[in-house]
Amino acid sequence: MNRIVVISGLGLVIALGIACSPKKAATPAVEPAMLTKEVALQQYTSAQIAEGEALTNAKCGTCHKLYAAGQFAAPRWHQVLNRMLPKAKTTEEEGKLIRAYIIANSRAVN
Ligand code: HEC
Repeated sequence: MNRIVVISGLGLVIALGIACSPKKAATPAVEPAMLTKEVALQQYTSAQIAEGEALTNAKCGTCHKLYAAGQFAAPRWHQVLNRMLPKAKTTEEEGKLIRAYIIANSRAVN
């Protein structure tokens, strides 16, 4: 009897713990991979874009030449960044800033 009480009590604590655990911190207004050039320029400060540029220069030219942000339009960059950010071993925050810099300076679509 006691064991049943203890076990169901434990279950309740675990269930509450899961239900009450904080949701992922501050979901960005726009999914990173959907970011357009216009939205990147609105959503990030010039200080953040500058930080993204410094990170790009530091992390994206070690295996190959540093590609210019203006080389591709945003959709192509998202495909490339989804492959390259893991290679560059960036933190989530660094990845966001690199993406923000590159997309903000990407080639205009038309
Ligand atoms: C660990 C090594 C490594 C790092 C760090 C790295 N890359 Fe790459 N990159 C590669 C390799 C290998 C290729 C060629 C194979 C491929 O495209 O997946 C490549 C290809 C590319 C291409 C050409 C892709 C295409 O489709 O034409 C671009 C652009 C690029 N990388 C950008 C970046 C950016 C931006 C970063 C920083 C976030 C970065 N890379 C970091 C290894 C790396």
